[in-house]
Amino acid sequence: MGLKSKSSDLRRRLRYARRGGGEKAIEKQKAIGKLTARERIISLLDPKSFHEYDLFVEHAGKDFDMDKKYLPGDGVITGTGMISGHPVCIYAQDFTVAGGSLGWMHAKKITKIMDHALKLKVPLIGINDSGGARIQEGVNSLAGYGEIFFRNTLASGVIPQISVILGPCAGGAVYSPALTDFVFTVNNITKMFITGPEVIKTVLGEEISMEDLGGARVHCETSGNAHFYAESEEECFSQIKQLVSFIPWNNVKKADRFPKKTPKTRQYKIDSVMPSDPKQPYDVRLLIKSVVDDSEFLEVQDLFAQNIVVGFARINGESVGIVANQPLVLAGVLDIDSSDKAARFIRFCDSFNIPLVTLVDLPGYLPGVDQEHSGVIRHGAKILYAYSEATVPKITLITRKAYGGGYIAMCSHHLRADFVFAWPTAEIAVMGPEGAANIIFRKEIFTAEDPDKVRKQKVNEYKEKFANPYVAAAYGYIDAVIEPEETRKMLIHALDISREKDITLPRKKHGIPPF
Ligand code: HXC
Repeated sequence: MGLKSKSSDLRRRLRYARRGGGEKAIEKQKAIGKLTARERIISLLDPKSFHEYDLFVEHAGKDFDMDKKYLPGDGVITGTGMISGHPVCIYAQDFTVAGGSLGWMHAKKITKIMDHALKLKVPLIGINDSGGARIQEGVNSLAGYGEIFFRNTLASGVIPQISVILGPCAGGAVYSPALTDFVFTVNNITKMFITGPEVIKTVLGEEISMEDLGGARVHCETSGNAHFYAESEEECFSQIKQLVSFIPWNNVKKADRFPKKTPKTRQYKIDSVMPSDPKQPYDVRLLIKSVVDDSEFLEVQDLFAQNIVVGFARINGESVGIVANQPLVLAGVLDIDSSDKAARFIRFCDSFNIPLVTLVDLPGYLPGVDQEHSGVIRHGAKILYAYSEATVPKITLITRKAYGGGYIAMCSHHLRADFVFAWPTAEIAVMGPEGAANIIFRKEIFTAEDPDKVRKQKVNEYKEKFANPYVAAAYGYIDAVIEPEETRKMLIHALDISREKDITLPRKKHGIPPF
């Protein structure tokens, strides 16, 4: 055979392998709003940037007549490409081929591209759409998962890892996404659970639909297992592209610097965002938009633990991670879920050289039997651990309340914030004036002829003394009390001056965070 006929033989083989599970199987997927695995990769990556590898890999199953079956690409597409000029390694499971089930060679293709990502120090994106362990391959499919989990862990904190759940992700398969940094979901397409509705019905007698058990909304809103929710695959891909623009390729690089842009001050003005009555709640997302470039804020886990807001923005062109109490929800308290959410985000930013900006307005940790018994002590400790351990520039602004443990936890100087600013409206105290007065002046109030009058007096006395930023400023715990309008200017300067920050933690194998 000459070169020409060999080339045409290659093209024939490529066409055959690329047809996936065939037209009928593809139609079934399209009918439920899904793109094919190859279309997903093409839609996500920059045009013509995708290069596929291992297309001719064949499965290794021998039992149950598997040796007579041809599974194109063994049900997974792997390769490299670019997103907005960023190199990435990517894989996408192909549900049309044996339900995207994971056999030994399918796993080997994934682990090979993971090894590439780690070696080349570029982000890894995994598109999951699979019936889980390929039942016919038995322990070899379990081994495959183990190899993937091991690499997810090894790569954690070295390269960003993104999981996209675009179909079933069942059984042990869920633990790869759980070990990665960001999980993206799509309404009516994502189905993620350890045991499905059938098993739950058999074992526990409980009936639940697949969507209610493991759909996108459940994981974004209730379980907290996912970070981004979209209504369509296209929307999901544009969210991924936006995220990638804020983060670096790996843990020794910084995120791309963008041209600086001023906030959209006509829409988002600090004095119109903040209520004049200090007891009125406000939407902290508007405050964030009033100080960041172009008022662009990519919120992470926006549907989960909404009492804290975390996400990415740019200040003067530089990527920052923002952590902010949300006074609109539970007055912005810290609780189990919000501590978990913030701690994880802080650790991501710290691993990937993204400075942290913290906006503080909270009454403290949430009291209650349910919180205590569910472990608010160990969960609440995660945020202390994450901030203390973070060595990226840390800049904190206290806008109103910073009470009790909340004051310490929200990146105070004591956890080594580099700069702590406060507005004149800041109140820094062990607890709110009402609670404090009731405790320390209990006797006077109780024995007074007019307890209400005395209580009011004592509350005012306490407010005068402590409910301001000046006591903390007198001890140097606040670096500067600033006018709200000066916020962006101060943040820009603090970030500029912290650019070369370089501190080393005590030598150790690793810490033991309150997991
Ligand atoms: C082999 C599988 C498969 C699997 C699906 N298929 N899952 N083949 N192993 N795990 C095959 C089907 O036989 C079928 O092949 C094709 O994929 C499409 O599947 P359908 O069932 O027709 O599709 P659908 O109706 O859309 O249902 C999708 C599904 C269902 C809900 C995912 O297939 C399902 O329940 N699969 C099993 C899920 C599961 O329990 N997996 C094991 C989890 S345990 P044909 O030839 O007919 O087209 C696990 C342990 C891992 O993963 C532990 C790691 C630590």
